[in-house]
Amino acid sequence: MSSAGPTTRVLPAGAAALAEAVRCLAAGGLVAFPTETVYGLGADAANGEAVARLYAAKGRPSFNPLIAHVDSMEAARRLAHFTPAAERLASLWPGPLTLVLRKPAGIRIADLATAGLDSIALRVPAHPLARELLQEFGSAIVAPSANRSGHVSPTTAGHVLADLQGRIDLILDGGPTKVGVESTIIACLDEPLLLRPGGLQREAIERTLGAALRDAPGAVQEARNAPLAPGMLASHYAPKASLRLEATSVASGEALLAFGPTPVPHPRDGPVLNLSPLGDLVEAAANLFAHLRALDASGAKAIAVMPIPRDGLGEAINDRLARAAAPRR
Ligand code: TXA
Ligand code: MG
Repeated sequence: MSSAGPTTRVLPAGAAALAEAVRCLAAGGLVAFPTETVYGLGADAANGEAVARLYAAKGRPSFNPLIAHVDSMEAARRLAHFTPAAERLASLWPGPLTLVLRKPAGIRIADLATAGLDSIALRVPAHPLARELLQEFGSAIVAPSANRSGHVSPTTAGHVLADLQGRIDLILDGGPTKVGVESTIIACLDEPLLLRPGGLQREAIERTLGAALRDAPGAVQEARNAPLAPGMLASHYAPKASLRLEATSVASGEALLAFGPTPVPHPRDGPVLNLSPLGDLVEAAANLFAHLRALDASGAKAIAVMPIPRDGLGEAINDRLARAAAPRR
């Protein structure tokens, strides 16, 4: 690869931008686009060279498989075997849900995109711009979060640019993403297993399944040590500053990531951001990565994080915070 890399253009959402994005993807280029969860870095899922460039742009370990995004259940069916539980869960599409399913032989997806596994991760996103892009492109787009490997996921076009300028071709700017944490990932190889808590809450999933959702062994609790969903490295979401979780007070010089109406005692010499002054977990999820980036950019060596409730989207928020606090590898 040349050292110069492509010039990264940022285009505001619109018909011209969409046409340009489709042209770029078809030519094997890399296009970042908003989904309702976070911005994704898209490549043509059938084009092995484009997928290889995508891994290179992110600096991602190539054993980490990608989510293939499609625009409809019909398209999803052509790429995977749906178990009865997967059929039920797919009724929650479009939305912040990814299903890991058995991969039939001979589908038009580059082996590199699934890291040679016999399973495939599929998602039908709900964001109107993502849906239009998928419809216009007409086949699957693989898209990891559009950040450098090891950084927090981007929730604005500016975050994408900060991480990937000169490494990708195009960024479609659709404003800040609504959900703010990545999709919930459920494996439906036989009985459904939660691989990653995310933007779709456990309660909605269990209601749809009519049963409790089991956590994949090691996946959620032991996030600290073991790659589980292959490539879910514990420190995946890390900012540069160290994180101190469940903080009940703040030391001098520490930044504070607060939650709720009453921030914990702090000396007021470090930056303070509140995920949700009203204590709303939906608002907190939407602000999580942007606030982590902003506190990190303040230069503080450490960020004290107040306790966040674990119900609803709190499960995904606490998962990302635990990963961000895990020791680097
Ligand atoms: O919300 C999201 O899911 C965003 C937006 C852009 O769609 N995407 C995203 O992708 O978070 P990424 O690549 O950052 O995370 C995908 C996760 C990885 O941890 C990967 O290991 C897991 O999905 N994964 C993909 N294919 C898998 C498979 N066949 N089996 C198990 N895990 C898989
Ligand atoms: Mg990611």
